[in-house]
Amino acid sequence: MLITNGIIVNAGGTQKADLRIDDELIVEIDTALAVQNPSEQVIDAQGMLVLPGGVDPHTHMDLQMGAHRATDDFFTGTVAAACGGTTTIIDHIGFGPAGCSLQHQIDAYHGLAGGKAVIDYGFHCAIARVDDAILKEMSQLPDLGVTSLKFYMTYANRLSDEETVNLLARSRELGILCCVHCEDHAMLTELRKRFVAEGKTEPLYHALSRPAECEAQAVSTVLNQARAAGDAPVYIVHLSSAAGLAATQDLPFIPNVILETCPQYLLLDDSLYAQANNEGLKYIMSPPLRKRADAVALWQGLADGRIDTIGTDHCPFYFATDKQAGKDDFTQCPNGMPGVELRLSLIHSEGVVKRGLGLERFVELCCAAPAQRFGLYPKKGVLAVGSDADVVIFDPDKEVTITHDLLHERVDYTPYEGMRITGYPRTTISRGEIIVQDGRFNATKGRGRFLKRGFSRR
Ligand code: URP
Ligand code: ZN
Repeated sequence: MLITNGIIVNAGGTQKADLRIDDELIVEIDTALAVQNPSEQVIDAQGMLVLPGGVDPHTHMDLQMGAHRATDDFFTGTVAAACGGTTTIIDHIGFGPAGCSLQHQIDAYHGLAGGKAVIDYGFHCAIARVDDAILKEMSQLPDLGVTSLKFYMTYANRLSDEETVNLLARSRELGILCCVHCEDHAMLTELRKRFVAEGKTEPLYHALSRPAECEAQAVSTVLNQARAAGDAPVYIVHLSSAAGLAATQDLPFIPNVILETCPQYLLLDDSLYAQANNEGLKYIMSPPLRKRADAVALWQGLADGRIDTIGTDHCPFYFATDKQAGKDDFTQCPNGMPGVELRLSLIHSEGVVKRGLGLERFVELCCAAPAQRFGLYPKKGVLAVGSDADVVIFDPDKEVTITHDLLHERVDYTPYEGMRITGYPRTTISRGEIIVQDGRFNATKGRGRFLKRGFSRR
């Protein structure tokens, strides 16, 4: 396959060039490449950007959350991802039965994803407790290709301070990257209790019970713990607030703090919680949506390099059913929102077109940096000779009004309904195969492969 006349954009540079794919790999990038034989498929990308396939470092396919289950499984969710130009996801494994081993959940997730995913995928391990058995078992993770894990500072499966320091120190020894959900459990629990006792149970109180201070407090705590654990690297997931960002800057002595944010914190705000008809339930997730000023601070952090990656935290639930569990009490609403399909287009439109985020920075945030930080680079995240031929042909001028009907996510709404955006993927190629053309997915269920990841690097 030969892609001609496009503008090839990598995090490290942009060039007008042609790109040749042989089987699953990129084999040549140069100007004026000639067709090699009559069977070579030629794609004219005149006027198009040619981008590395998107790498979404934060999804929750098929996640069991209490009585609810995220509505996208590894088939429907990866079809949606592919339609939006994402060719790799790294999914956060859910917690298993109390006391289960790490292997138990990794096996369970191979069962959920294998035979279903249509793009390549990796897993972040989930840690619900830290004891001798877990600390010992962790040494096997790199061999399994699972070189990152996640722990929570809130929810039932949160770790204690002692567990956290032990886990960070052990992860550092093994080269495993710890992803952390930063919300101060004591603070939010107290606020929730008070609001519920006062009968303040509308969706808005979800946001008010988890204020930005709650994030900032948790960020400071975990970064100090990482310091105490011997400068363990830490990846903070879904950073949502100016206060949270400022808390990372107060602690410049941590040498390797990696920050992720998500489109919802950049594009939406907490005014959405106060809508009529309990529409605010659609936006119940943790951390919650913030103020406009928080989004401004996050955009600034993306532009100046303090924030490193953009993931989606894709975790959809049906508004008509699942989300209604919270209609009389926000604490009963499953947390999470769809987003895996629109990441590239939203960030292109709102970042590149409206705010002057450079194209190369856009590619860095959405493709290259997630691949580097999670041990997939240069196989993924870059258009280079020898890399997997994961390529997105992206029309930077296409104007689209987002509607739920346009999307492939298996859920009954999109948080971005009615938004007018500029830039949309035209063709998605995964390991040399065109899997999406003009919004139509056409490939085999289960073609996606598990990615055994290496260690994190810059
Ligand atoms: O509200 C969110 N972020 N849902 C996804 C599951 C989690 O909390 O990580
Ligand atoms: Zn998440």
